Amino acid sequence: MQKNIVAAPQLAEEGKQKIEWVKRNMPILQQIETDFLEQQYFRGLRVLVCIHLEAKTAYLVQVFASGGAEVAVTGSNPHSTKDDVAAALAAEGLHVYARYGATPEEMRQYMNLALDLKPHILIDDGGDIVELLHTDRKDLLAEVLGACEETTTGVLRAKARAKAGQLEFPVVLINDARCKYLFDNYHGTGQSVWDGVMRTTNLVISGKTVVIIGYGWCGKGCAERAQGLGANVIICEVDPVKAADALMHGLRVMPMSEAAQQGDIFLTVTGNKHVIRKEHFSQMKNGAIICNAGHFKIELDLEALRSMAVEQKEMRHNISGFLMTDGRWLNLLGDGDLVNITCADGHPAEIMDTSFALQALSGKFVALNHEDLSPDVHRVPDDIDEEVARLKLKGSGVCIDELLPEQIEYLEGWEE
Ligand code: NAI
Repeated sequence: MQKNIVAAPQLAEEGKQKIEWVKRNMPILQQIETDFLEQQYFRGLRVLVCIHLEAKTAYLVQVFASGGAEVAVTGSNPHSTKDDVAAALAAEGLHVYARYGATPEEMRQYMNLALDLKPHILIDDGGDIVELLHTDRKDLLAEVLGACEETTTGVLRAKARAKAGQLEFPVVLINDARCKYLFDNYHGTGQSVWDGVMRTTNLVISGKTVVIIGYGWCGKGCAERAQGLGANVIICEVDPVKAADALMHGLRVMPMSEAAQQGDIFLTVTGNKHVIRKEHFSQMKNGAIICNAGHFKIELDLEALRSMAVEQKEMRHNISGFLMTDGRWLNLLGDGDLVNITCADGHPAEIMDTSFALQALSGKFVALNHEDLSPDVHRVPDDIDEEVARLKLKGSGVCIDELLPEQIEYLEGWEE
């Protein structure tokens, strides 16, 4: 097996420093690491981690290694890989295959190289590794004990496979745990999206009309933060309940065909394809800013945007300008990849602390219980979800109340 492919091994020291910083701010994972070191739950097991390869992910990788696992790592998006962090992990002797700006062919090659480890447990983000194992790498299926899927898009793909009876191993749905979407999707995306937009454009948000397409957990967080920054927020939705919820939060709701003419900044976060397309690009104002925070850039019909442009140029780092035939310039951030990760540093460390604590404990759950898990999708067990919340409170020095026996009796009965 090829040991590793990283772009800049000389940056290992810088990467190490970045990992040290996030580690200081991930107290839940620190507590889990201590337990893993003692108990060695993963001794003899091989783990493949395919998540945006930046500092927080690197710490998760180290936690699995502390638990005795042999780990292979690759990135889940070519523009989210931090070469210094990849170099730091490679310097520790892990199997690392990732570089910033990898082509789609290279991404596939790196995933296949990581799969050459013959992993028992998969920590996936977006479902690409799970998909490869069901197509090109079926030969490895016999070794797989189970997977843990990080995000909404990967969860949808796993559920679709399970529904069709075509899932070959258990997949634990990290995204559907309360300690995931209530913190990561909502607060994490909410904060880091605007971090990415602001530092990339160096423009003000206040007073701008921000159009958010998709008012799920991520969209809701992004909308609230945009309101807090003084933006005038419009929501586009297809789910009437979500649309009504947005209305009750004081947001304007309308179809994209109307919003397209009004927005200064457009953000897609639906997990769906082509939610901004030709008919919308043709209506947007001169100078409009377009970005995506959904897992795949397919949310934007970039082929249409490129075919409509008579000129394309880099306006600023991570901003591509497209000149329309009528003289309007449209600005695309981060080439349409997740704006909070490609144009900023992703979710804050304290947020990934809860998500990755779920990953670590669910990985342990698969290691210890795989014989009882059917080849289907599985919820994160409630005791793991609650354990992560308890560790978060403990790490923050916060105590909470407990139910009295008489209260438990009251809640569980009907007599009183
Ligand atoms: P969600 O399922 O809670 O919300 C998605 C919303 O989009 C739903 O309310 C749905 O009705 C709406 N929608 C779907 N198609 C639409 C269309 N054509 N027009 C308007 N609205 C439409 O999903 P969640 O958790 O908010 O995730 C959204 C995406 O963001 C997924 O791809 C997920 O993987 C990704 N994600 C990205 C993160 C990041 O760091 N950027 C973090 C977590 C998730």
